[in-house]
Amino acid sequence: MKTILTGDRPTGKLHLGHFVGSLRERVKLQNSGEYDKIFIMIADAQALTDHADNPATVRENILNVALDYLSVGLDPAKSTIFIQSQVPALFELTAYYLNLVTVSRLERNPTVKNEIAQKNFETSIPAGFLCYPVSQAADITAFDANIVPVGEDQAPMLEQTREIVRKMNELYGEVLVEPNIFLSSNETCRRLPGIDGKAKMSKTLGNCIYLSDDAKTVAAKVKEMYTDPLHIKVSDPGHIEGNVVFTYLDAFCEDKKTVAEMKEHYQRGGLGDVKVKKFLLEVLEEVLTPIRQRRTDYEKNPAAVMEILKAGTAAANEKAYEVLRRVKRAMKINYFE
Ligand code: TRP
Repeated sequence: MKTILTGDRPTGKLHLGHFVGSLRERVKLQNSGEYDKIFIMIADAQALTDHADNPATVRENILNVALDYLSVGLDPAKSTIFIQSQVPALFELTAYYLNLVTVSRLERNPTVKNEIAQKNFETSIPAGFLCYPVSQAADITAFDANIVPVGEDQAPMLEQTREIVRKMNELYGEVLVEPNIFLSSNETCRRLPGIDGKAKMSKTLGNCIYLSDDAKTVAAKVKEMYTDPLHIKVSDPGHIEGNVVFTYLDAFCEDKKTVAEMKEHYQRGGLGDVKVKKFLLEVLEEVLTPIRQRRTDYEKNPAAVMEILKAGTAAANEKAYEVLRRVKRAMKINYFE
């Protein structure tokens, strides 16, 4: 069996960084027909680990993220889209896995460490937040997933999941499937910079192009995109390193030959930023137009989207419960069976 599981926290709308880093790959994997099962999770319980005081944000963004999924081409006939908090087996599994992980190991998890610094938690780290890698291990193993397509920042989560799996299997017999991370093969796509040239596109940094942005907004954002500050006159030789416009062309333009020629011309001098940006905007619009069309259709009928999530959640519950029973049997805590 080849099974995929992945997901996102519903804390905001998804952006181009999510798209090239993971969403686009998921759609390709989905449409390759090579996978027996695909589970896509809206990780609301994980989002609550650092939004306990603001559940409304999480609640609102469930529909936003679902719309983002459906508009990029995730197809409910092929992929099971579901809501994490509505699958109780995940929380039972988490409880058992927590006994196999030390607090110091969690504190060393690089992603968690980064986030703690970013959020200024300092000494007031919510216990649920510190432990979310364990709940993520439950998310992955509850579906017997062997392939987890995610952005590069999630690599430490996969590492920690694999450790938990090995420990479980060592203690209770071969009960869990060890998953592998699946990263985008395009280096540029693994970490898309923001339109301001900062290393990462992120909601908090306010440097995103959202999948739900309209054409006018995208045009304005491309216009203000960071290029080469030393490239003043069109005739000046320009730099392409750190020049976001070229980075985005690498991530989005299929026509690699044209991009290579433009880079060469820009570096030689004589190619203006306005022209390159105009080309990038065309490339982006080609990607975003069909996404917007699908969104418009689904947006008209939010009840139908909720039905998709409901049906997906029922299917997810069935699978996760089956795995939970297998785990409890392996742990010999199936007293009444
Ligand atoms: N941690 C992921 C994020 O921040 C979301 C997530 C939760 C996830 N559970 C998962 C991703 C399981 C992959 C597999 O976006």
